[in-house]
Amino acid sequence: MHVTRSSNSPELWWRDAVVYEVYVRSFADSDGDGEGDLAGIRSKLPYLRDLGVDALWLTPFYRSPLADGGYDVADYRDVDPRFGTLSDLDALVAATHAHGMRLLVDIVPNHTSDQHPWFQEALAGIHRDRYLFRKEPNDWRSNFGGSAWTQLPDGEWYLHLYAPEQPDLNWRNPQVREEFEDILRFWLDRGVDGFRIDVAAGLFKDPEYGNIGTLRPHEDGSPIYGRPEVHGVYRDWRRILDSYDGDRMAIGEVWTESPADFARFLRPDELHQAFTFALQLAPWSAPEFRSVVDKVLAAVRPTGSVPTWVLSSHDVVRHRTRYGSAARAHAALLFMLALPGSAYLYQGEELGLPEVLDLPEAALQDPIFARTGGLSRGRDGCRVPLPWSGSAPPYGFTAPGAEPWLPMPSDWGPLTAEAQTDDPVSTLSFYQRALRLRRALRDGLPESLEWLESPADALFFRRGPLLCALNCGSEPVRLPPHQRVLLGSTGQPGRELPGGAAVWLA
Ligand code: BGC
Repeated sequence: MHVTRSSNSPELWWRDAVVYEVYVRSFADSDGDGEGDLAGIRSKLPYLRDLGVDALWLTPFYRSPLADGGYDVADYRDVDPRFGTLSDLDALVAATHAHGMRLLVDIVPNHTSDQHPWFQEALAGIHRDRYLFRKEPNDWRSNFGGSAWTQLPDGEWYLHLYAPEQPDLNWRNPQVREEFEDILRFWLDRGVDGFRIDVAAGLFKDPEYGNIGTLRPHEDGSPIYGRPEVHGVYRDWRRILDSYDGDRMAIGEVWTESPADFARFLRPDELHQAFTFALQLAPWSAPEFRSVVDKVLAAVRPTGSVPTWVLSSHDVVRHRTRYGSAARAHAALLFMLALPGSAYLYQGEELGLPEVLDLPEAALQDPIFARTGGLSRGRDGCRVPLPWSGSAPPYGFTAPGAEPWLPMPSDWGPLTAEAQTDDPVSTLSFYQRALRLRRALRDGLPESLEWLESPADALFFRRGPLLCALNCGSEPVRLPPHQRVLLGSTGQPGRELPGGAAVWLA
């Protein structure tokens, strides 16, 4: 019988891992159809290994009509033909492991695609109790805009917290629970190292369907998120993960406002990690960053888990654009990588990609654009395919002459991976240096930090032998006493750290 370690064991790989999010559709295309695929990812594993990440998280690659980029799953046990086959997935798992990395996959339990056989049956009036059908809608809103309810021709309404093509499942139905346990086993048996759980706090809704009124959706007492019943599901999932060897893990996408609510997901018999989005939401400001870090550390500490940090993802404006410059983006990376816990990177940030703000409306695919009547342009600007080589679109992402699924800017030639490789001052080289150094230091670092006194616009903190300084202001600040500069976001600073820069000191 396999013996699992308590999730407090400091040697567990995920406690300080750097995980790289692969948005599969936009990473690398091996077959020239303009969309990335699993074989494309496999061909880039040496690049990811050289970058220095510990694990990959793949966004959904399952059979899907892609009404929400694959977060609308029609078959949870198969690969969409656009992205490859199950054998491609098996080959990717094996090759990722052979390159010394782990592989996490995305699991989407809150809703299926409207093309899923269960929903097709529900439409025909069979087993509607696998979904959330009602005679009357309430005031709940879809996260993509508009009502969360759609009426069928026979008069009944079904709930969808996202697009109408993503009907919400009824987690009070034991069949739904059994189905997902089986799906977890299906992928664990194929060798994946764990899961990123989509909309992890949302599976159970208030059975009374009370109106939300003026409550915010993620507030305590919300009828939609963080209801107590959800924790039983993750206890069951934890037992499944623990029954496999190899320290499999799960990280939940948990949006909650209260730290206590958040911490409940991290109890030792529940999820290994949960995403905290506070850093991603904070503006470029030293006091804001410090307050976010303190709140997250305080929420996570009693659970025995570790914090997770994210600057960019497939759901938000890229941090280079949010912060307004490449220099600040580099500084933020050093700050994040020095914090205790694990860090999640998003593909393309290592190339310094900006958000693409001028995609033509006709090209936009995110359902948010249509559901908000064009008020929000949606998330396509951070999902533009990666530029690998050459000086013109599609920059080696897909076959020459093929159309990438989103248009690529004409001025990305200097940003390609090829152009940045072996250039000592490129963003890619900077990421490689930072990740290499973090790896070299990490065994000696405590899972806590100590703030040091600093000027108001700056933050200085210490973790054992490592000292990190970040200057969010525009004037230079005097660095704290140190023996040596390990790595700077803008060259080697002297006794002063310029504005919009960060440094690691020994
Ligand atoms: C994913 C989004 C997706 C939504 C619905 C999320 O939180 O990250 O990309 O649109 O879940 O599945």
